[in-house]
Amino acid sequence: MNLIFLGPPGAGKGTQAKVLEEHCGYRQISTGDILRRHVAEGTPLGVEAKSFMDRGDLVPDDLIIRMMEHELVNPAEVILDGFPRTVPQARALDALLVSHKRGAVAVLFDVDFDVLTERLTGRWTHPASGRTYHAVFNPPQIPGIDDVTGEPLIQRPDDRPETIRKRLAEYQEKTAPLIGYYDDPGDPRLVRVDALAPIADVTRQLGVLVNCAALLPVASA
Ligand code: AP5
Repeated sequence: MNLIFLGPPGAGKGTQAKVLEEHCGYRQISTGDILRRHVAEGTPLGVEAKSFMDRGDLVPDDLIIRMMEHELVNPAEVILDGFPRTVPQARALDALLVSHKRGAVAVLFDVDFDVLTERLTGRWTHPASGRTYHAVFNPPQIPGIDDVTGEPLIQRPDDRPETIRKRLAEYQEKTAPLIGYYDDPGDPRLVRVDALAPIADVTRQLGVLVNCAALLPVASA
């Protein structure tokens, strides 16, 4: 089952996508990570996207849709993390899914907005892999250092409080309408997880949803 992770910045989409990738055979496709790689490499797309990302605005739909057109060719089951984020992107994705004869379920990370700023300002990221930590909720073994590679962690430039406010406003205006898009009574394609719960609890909810043995609680004898 292909998954579309839907939820505001800081809801935990990237954190959980990495777990499902590691333990359940999914391939995470994070539009934010792909865009950040383009920015770091100074590609034409990266140059164009950077100013939007720095301001906390969404990158224009045509750039994102072009970027995603080749991503569904690989038949592995995917987690779309950060795409779609607007109704035009969702329509473009539906067309891509039909042309590749694939289906997808949207997973809404249900969370109160008042926890998001704390999650984002405490986030530390390993830029090469996109792995994330949190100073309080999910600290690395050594502060500022990636557990896997031993490389330094960074704080994302768009995790400043004023940019977070803009990203949350963009989510409300442009992405939240996708909840209704996927929760259409005639063709419901939305499931919800309680993303206010601790990280391990959210992982367990997702393990049940996708029936991933590695994430299911072991039955007691
Ligand atoms: P992107 O990188 O996708 O950022 P985002 O959607 O804003 O999502 P985040 O990565 O901030 O949050 P997350 O839900 O993944 O949270 P995480 O798991 O890290 O996009 C960045 C920019 O790129 C956009 O602003 C836009 O400009 C552009 N862009 C990307 N896609 C686009 C598109 N399709 N169209 C147009 N523009 C696009 O968790 C956050 C923190 O909380 C971590 O520190 C984590 O350890 C902690 N945490 C996670 N879960 C929990 C929990 N349950 N309890 C406590 N702490 C938790």
